[in-house]
Amino acid sequence: MRLCSIIFAVLLFVALFSAGNCFWPFHKKGKHPPKPEPPKEKRLSPVIFVPGDGGSQLEARLSKSDSPYFICEKTHDWYNLWLDLEQLVIPMVYCWIDNVKLYYDKVTRTTHNTPGVETRIPGWGDPEVVEWIDPTRNKAGAYFKDIANVLADLGYVRRLNIRGAPYDFRRAPNENKQFFIDLKQLVEDTYEANNQTAVTFITHSMGSPMTLVFLQEQTAEWKAQYVRRQISLAGAWAGSMKAVKVFAMGDDLDSFALSAKILRAEQISHPSTAWLLPSPLFWKPSEVLASTPSRNYTMAQMKEFFHDIDYMTGWEMRKDTMRYTQNFSPPDVELHCLYGDGVSTVESLIYKKDTINGETPKLKMGYGDGTVNQRSLRACQSWEGYSSSHISTLALQGVDHMGILVHPDVLQYIRTVMLQP
Ligand SMILES: *[C@@H]1O[C@H](CO)[C@@H](O)[C@H](O)[C@H]1NC(C)=O
Ligand SMILES: *[C@@H]1O[C@H](CO)[C@@H](O)[C@H](O)[C@H]1NC(C)=O
Repeated sequence: MRLCSIIFAVLLFVALFSAGNCFWPFHKKGKHPPKPEPPKEKRLSPVIFVPGDGGSQLEARLSKSDSPYFICEKTHDWYNLWLDLEQLVIPMVYCWIDNVKLYYDKVTRTTHNTPGVETRIPGWGDPEVVEWIDPTRNKAGAYFKDIANVLADLGYVRRLNIRGAPYDFRRAPNENKQFFIDLKQLVEDTYEANNQTAVTFITHSMGSPMTLVFLQEQTAEWKAQYVRRQISLAGAWAGSMKAVKVFAMGDDLDSFALSAKILRAEQISHPSTAWLLPSPLFWKPSEVLASTPSRNYTMAQMKEFFHDIDYMTGWEMRKDTMRYTQNFSPPDVELHCLYGDGVSTVESLIYKKDTINGETPKLKMGYGDGTVNQRSLRACQSWEGYSSSHISTLALQGVDHMGILVHPDVLQYIRTVMLQP
């Protein structure tokens, strides 16, 4: 999700195929060799990429009466705001934060930009805006690129049967209603443009629960007609402790050049960060999120935690998105749930002092893919038996949150699945 390794290239750990955690659904089962089939018309299921947090490009236009520092421009025609590494370094990062952060309105329970900043998401339907998050194609911004290339090798054609569904990742589903309307139209248009062939969603990180919310809202008839399957990579199905860490201390996007403390001001203003807090369906009320010498903040005491870090807005945004977290009904489409595991991932925060506001805690680590905790990545397994549709899971040991997008086993898996009728 968060960009993390988007910035500095992804370290790939050697992936050990763990037979205990996964299975290939495609081993030939029958004893008889398959009958030679007459050559038939190739029908490729069109693919729609749904990106995660930080996985869409964002453009801005400025007409501000104020700017935080004299170096910051007040007016500018449409330009690329995300991802552009040059804007993330000091001092330009202060200008960038003022242009990308959101403000929460307690009355309407919605967010808005800094006055004088307009934003838009370019490239609706175009896969290239999610293949490369940095429009200059800096390799640090490579995202769905390798997967799109695998599809192209199978005969797919960009913009015909490879599509992209970028969205304003700063916001949660409650403020992305138009995205869901547009996505339905994109599915139907893509289906029609491909001789009425049902589509495959390939989703990453927050894109997986975004797609879940979308599918939960569609009728069974609609899904049977238009959706062939979902292939989820590193789905943050049940949130992540990483979001608690971001509210507490920010995130340096895994780059030594960036300051978590500076970026925090922007990151905590995103309702999507609140939506990605640990789900009460997968974290018990008694589980400890953070501890100090004299007390614990448990899952049931998250409100107190937000109070004590002096950011009640985070709690309000959590409440606004809780209805999405609480609905964990299955997508009811064929689901392939792939994720990395066995990578050190933040499990809780440990403060040295009892006053926690402004303090930088130590991190207690557990397992996951480095960004999302294991239980959240595995949450898709809880639908097995509850869903009428087939669910396959594949865990890749030692593969991290971004590494899953380029891992050879994942690319081979996608090749195999997409060649199924
Ligand atoms: C669409 O599919 C039908 C049925 O398989 C086939 O007869 C027709 O030629 C296809 N049309 C195109 C444009 O591929
Ligand atoms: C905090 O939680 C830990 C582990 O859950 C427990 O061992 C410890 O006693 C708790 N500390 C306090 C002060 O309640």
